[in-house]
Amino acid sequence: MTLRYLTAGESHGPGLCAIAEGFPAGVTIDLAAVDHDLARRQKGYGRGGRMKIETDKAQFVAGLRGGLTTGAPIALVIWNKDHENWKDLVSPAARGGKKFTAVRPGHADLPGSLKYGFDDARDALERASARNTATLVALGSLARQLLAACGVRLCSRVVSIGEAVHAVEGPPTEAGRAAIEASEFHVDSPAAEAAMKVVVDRERERGSSVGGTVEVWAEGLPPGLGTFVHPDRRLDARLGQALLGVQAIKAVEIGDGTRTDWPGDRVHDAIFHSPERGFYRNTNRAGGLEGGMTNGSPLRVRAFMKPIPTMLTPLPSVDLLTRQAVQARYERSDVCAVPAAAVVCEAVVAWTLADALLEKFGGDQLGDLQAAMRHYADRIR
Ligand SMILES: Cc1cc2nc3c(=O)[nH]c(=O)nc-3n(C[C@H](O)[C@H](O)[C@H](O)COP(=O)(O)O)c2cc1C
Repeated sequence: MTLRYLTAGESHGPGLCAIAEGFPAGVTIDLAAVDHDLARRQKGYGRGGRMKIETDKAQFVAGLRGGLTTGAPIALVIWNKDHENWKDLVSPAARGGKKFTAVRPGHADLPGSLKYGFDDARDALERASARNTATLVALGSLARQLLAACGVRLCSRVVSIGEAVHAVEGPPTEAGRAAIEASEFHVDSPAAEAAMKVVVDRERERGSSVGGTVEVWAEGLPPGLGTFVHPDRRLDARLGQALLGVQAIKAVEIGDGTRTDWPGDRVHDAIFHSPERGFYRNTNRAGGLEGGMTNGSPLRVRAFMKPIPTMLTPLPSVDLLTRQAVQARYERSDVCAVPAAAVVCEAVVAWTLADALLEKFGGDQLGDLQAAMRHYADRIR
């Protein structure tokens, strides 16, 4: 691992913070672009009231000078506006108020309380909350800017919400990317958007919730990021870990990886070569990864999000303290956060790819990194 990070912060605490180490010097960071990515995470049809309160902004406190990275650790803070409304319950000094004991199935509430010996599940749920994905998006935005300086660009889109499926093949077109960013469902199809809205409205009405599938694309990657030499260094494994590290992501697919019903000649991508293009493929069923490495085709990974576990019509549960049967507690919640999850997944993929790029090409400084990439491109042609 060349790039590393740590995050800290509770959902309703004063703020969230992150430290990133291993970033090369000389990368121009567009701070407005980081805030733009944070705003993208906050959007989406089916979100709860919290997103109306927050307008996330990253405050950089270390590692940048004059808009350029210095190679030193980068530190950032995202303040929680909603903390003002919760500070009696969750400020570092507070311990009081009504205990959260009607633990919610599908959350960290019960296993987290048992593991750490809490009599109030708030001690678990505040940190377990997906609010922390704001830090992942800010870090991913830095990674995305580094990747862009190296000719790599990423995008994401929602592929399904509940049973409403957007049947797509290949990365979105330029117009499609614009449509995705303008869409409340993060899709490039008005028909899919309409079908997804029906599903979210229905589940909201039922007091339930809904999950879905997202995909992330990265184009412009050189072949050979990641490696086959050891299991934990395979890029497939590292992408899987990054994506499964996001709350509510329960499965990951690389390329057409789940199509185990297809025969080999339908699944693998024939290899061609021309002096102009070098090695190339006419299909991309592998999703740009072979043998734990990028193969030069666009990367395509999908992540599968379970339905949101906090529901207006709660499931039966047991009180943490009395051990009596209760209904799980409801606390303000999203009904669907699949569009937001797409932005988060894009961010963690960006981070993983930036790490793999730095591992392959090194460079304390952006110019060295770019020169190493040019040299490699000439060698493999
Ligand atoms: C962007 C995003 C937003 C989420 N919003 C909520 C929410 O409002 N309410 C909720 O109960 N769960 C929400 N979740 C899911 C929970 O955080 C997650 O299911 C829970 O922490 C348990 O973790 P697990 O699903 O990975 O087991 C959200 C997840 C993501 C990625």
